[in-house]
Amino acid sequence: MLHVGLVGPGSIADRRLAPALAQVRGAVLWSVCSRDRERAQAFAGRHGARGPIFTDLADMLADPRLDAVVLATPDRLHAAQAIAAAAAGKHVFVEKPMATDVADAEAVVRACAAAGVRLAVGYHLRFHPGLRALRERIVAGELGRVLHMRATWTFIERDANNWRASPEVGRWWSLAAVGTHCLDLVRWYLRPGHGEIERAHALTASPVHHGPHDETAAVALRFAGGATADILTSVIFRAPRSIEVFGDAGSARGEEVLGPHGGGRIVVGDRELSYEPADPYLGELQDFVDAVAHGRAPEVDAVEGLANVRGLCEMTSA
Ligand SMILES: NC(=O)c1ccc[n+]([C@@H]2O[C@H](COP(=O)([O-])OP(=O)(O)OC[C@H]3O[C@@H](n4cnc5c(N)ncnc54)[C@H](OP(=O)(O)O)[C@@H]3O)[C@@H](O)[C@H]2O)c1
Repeated sequence: MLHVGLVGPGSIADRRLAPALAQVRGAVLWSVCSRDRERAQAFAGRHGARGPIFTDLADMLADPRLDAVVLATPDRLHAAQAIAAAAAGKHVFVEKPMATDVADAEAVVRACAAAGVRLAVGYHLRFHPGLRALRERIVAGELGRVLHMRATWTFIERDANNWRASPEVGRWWSLAAVGTHCLDLVRWYLRPGHGEIERAHALTASPVHHGPHDETAAVALRFAGGATADILTSVIFRAPRSIEVFGDAGSARGEEVLGPHGGGRIVVGDRELSYEPADPYLGELQDFVDAVAHGRAPEVDAVEGLANVRGLCEMTSA
């Protein structure tokens, strides 16, 4: 049994990660770390943590019964926490994005390699059964040569005091909340035919809260093999969430597939793709636990996490 410690008992930990972890084979929620002891205690009680609670990460990592950590903290904290966990010999599941600059992301890759620990990044859409089935068809050539992909994911965030809007613990807003997922999805779909991203640019705007971070981002990407992609993200308006994939022999469309639920409608050509919706958070955590148990890389490892951070940095660098 892998003993897992949870750091950052906030929204995603409470609503998705801890309930999913409770269903994962081969792991248990062991300890909880929060800046606030009562919050840690309440979370541990709600989710049946079997071990101690902590208000300090170093103390949590010193626990010899702890095998792995789930980092569900604000983005700018991820790299240092992942490096500390790796140095203590603990495997790491870190929420996306893995870091907020390339140097930090590279340091995470090095730290995990040096310590011989596994690291997975929380791109849960890779475990959406419909998106997996669609990717298999695309890689098998059903759309011919894929030439363009589009992803739109927006929502309304009314709280401008959200940490994502603060440069101290966040770097991007819409791009870190949902754009990083779209970027991962586009890379996952297009890399087999087109290699890595060679140009990335995001036009960003902050017309509502007027803070330092993107409220809306219109992203344009080009891959080495010539495929292009566009991504639209926002925290200030609602648009239908969708993906579209265009090849020279056909196209596919997914409606309401971008979200936490692992469902939505996917049409390939004029035929609906049939699949059984499943909890993608359970999928990503099961993959992490299995990777540790079998000594293999998780599906989204630290190198994939680094590539995503590189893309986010490049698209917002100019
Ligand atoms: N994959 C997904 O679908 C998904 C969805 C949402 C979020 N996420 C990712 O999950 C991570 C957490 O996001 P969230 O929405 O759960 O945020 P959240 O609700 O604000 O939770 C973050 C937790 O981190 C802890 N924390 C430690 N230092 C903090 C600081 N300086 N400021 C604020 N919180 C601090 C807080 O817990 P204590 O105060 O108890 O220490 C807080 O509850 C982010 O990296 C985000 O990108 C992923």
